[in-house]
Amino acid sequence: MTEGLGGWQRSHPCGALRAGDAGAPVTLMGWVHRRRDHGGLIFVDLRDRSGLAQCVFDEATGRSAYERAQAVRGEFVVAVRGVVARRPAGTENAKLPTGEVEVHVRAMKVLNESRPLPFPIEDTVDVDELTRLQHRYLDLRRPSMYRNFAIRDAVYQAVRDYLHGHGFLEVETPFLTRSTPEGARDFLVPSRLSRGSFYALPQSPQLFKQLLMVAGFERYFQIVRCFRDEDLRKDRQPEFTQIDVETSFLDRDDFLPLMEGMVREVVGRVRGIELPQPFPRLTYAEALDRYGSDKPDLRFGLPLIDLTDLFRGGEFQAFAQVAATGGAVKALRVPGAGGISRKEADDLVATAKALGGRGLVWVKVAGEGLQSPVARFLESIRPALLDRLGAVAGDLLLLVGDAMPTAATVLGRFRVDLAQRHGLIPADQHAVLWVVDFPLVEWSPEERRWQAMHHPFTAPRDEDVALLETDPGAVKAKAYDLVLSGQEVGGGSVRIHQQSIQQKVFDLLGITKDEARAKFGFLLDALEFGAPPMCGVAFGLDRLVAILAGEESIREVIAFPKTQKGTDPMMEAPAPVSAAQLRELGIVVIDSEKDS
Ligand code: AMO
Repeated sequence: MTEGLGGWQRSHPCGALRAGDAGAPVTLMGWVHRRRDHGGLIFVDLRDRSGLAQCVFDEATGRSAYERAQAVRGEFVVAVRGVVARRPAGTENAKLPTGEVEVHVRAMKVLNESRPLPFPIEDTVDVDELTRLQHRYLDLRRPSMYRNFAIRDAVYQAVRDYLHGHGFLEVETPFLTRSTPEGARDFLVPSRLSRGSFYALPQSPQLFKQLLMVAGFERYFQIVRCFRDEDLRKDRQPEFTQIDVETSFLDRDDFLPLMEGMVREVVGRVRGIELPQPFPRLTYAEALDRYGSDKPDLRFGLPLIDLTDLFRGGEFQAFAQVAATGGAVKALRVPGAGGISRKEADDLVATAKALGGRGLVWVKVAGEGLQSPVARFLESIRPALLDRLGAVAGDLLLLVGDAMPTAATVLGRFRVDLAQRHGLIPADQHAVLWVVDFPLVEWSPEERRWQAMHHPFTAPRDEDVALLETDPGAVKAKAYDLVLSGQEVGGGSVRIHQQSIQQKVFDLLGITKDEARAKFGFLLDALEFGAPPMCGVAFGLDRLVAILAGEESIREVIAFPKTQKGTDPMMEAPAPVSAAQLRELGIVVIDSEKDS
């Protein structure tokens, strides 16, 4: 039988009780985490967001409360009244913050019952994700989830405090809007009032924040949801949250330190981690060259070493040819990994091919020489090879000869994977850096046109503007990414604030004048009404929180995330709608079979 609160008020969170509370009368409310009945003595571990409290029912407990305790089951919602006491010597639980005390119960109310759960509320229980998401409200009861969301909350607060302290204004921008060009597919929302027309959900507030600068807001921020219809991974969700920032009258080198201050404040306050000041920077070219990635993980060394010159004109034809045709030979030394089996080595080669490389040469450094399918071609350069890589017996060397950047990016993937596999990444460390000087555009072989590497409003470096017409691939952008422990947690740029340069960039991207007018006419107009110099950035809040919480996937720090397939198994979204709703919108659905 369940009852109401009947005027009872909670006096303490369960997890707050300590030895110093002994003797205090308490009223606790929460969920029955576990119940142990020893006949005449019942223990109930009562759980709320703050933790567990052991509640004891014995002969001193009133009869009705004792009988209720016999009837409660896991996840019943109960309220207990009693007195805090120290646990008898020898029965303390050092693993629990409340482990020195227990509550001797005098009265109890059952506030609600619970069906048996589909999975227990424990961090250690292995449950498949679909089940977890179907019952997300139960999944969220787990202690690690409470902790993750406390971290997330602390991040919001730290961000707001810092930015308000630096003159930023928090402003909201529309969700029902037009397509914004962040390079993913849009989510569309049909309009009832303008039949046949669609809003697009914003991929980011990019254009609005630039317009706020034209409006003279000077320093804007927003913790904002963004929507992108793209393939999902553990660090990608179709809706995710950005800390979105824009400023006027600052150049890159004034702006980046301001943002470093924010990131330092956040990770310092939330996790007590001290990040360097200033943050190190690598150019995009350096990052690719040394780490084979534009988001290098600098928590461990293992830089890629260039051996092109060593193989030029040499015996090993495959690499000699790469060197002769403008490619590069890159090498990675994995300390102590020389014990891998033949099968594992073959798998590495297959992976290199799957990553788009022509192949991979593996070399095991043994005491008496090199073991490799191509060992005899390496014999003449063996001393130089070992010396350049600093290799010693027991190491595994991986070499890729290919066009750049493929040679580097293939090894860049192995660098991270093998460091993980061989335990070379120090736990509980964070490495931060800015990657700067990205190319403005990259060539898309499929579409046979230049594409913006960041977005089309990113400014080229002043000294490169002339190259826009002659050598676009060589133009560097005033763009920057923030990388934390191998993940891209932020990206931004100095914006184009002059209409003539914006027009040049649109031309380069193959956006015709008419198209530019149709899509971004408002921006082009705004740039002609006294747009100030501006720059900004957006941080991926979910990724930042996941890293701070030590979680692999951002799904662990989003209250109600989508599955890998973009569905919500609890709400059963997306879902078909009624014929009447479709008619109102003027929409006919073609089923996929007819479509093909
Ligand atoms: P960008 O597209 O680089 O820049 O996005 C900024 C940051 O947002 C995070 N992010 C994501 N997180 C989770 N799921 C996703 N699908 C996802 N996509 C991106 C990343 C990324 O670094 N308007 C520009 C910013 C600017 O120029 O100011 C923008 O959105 O951490």
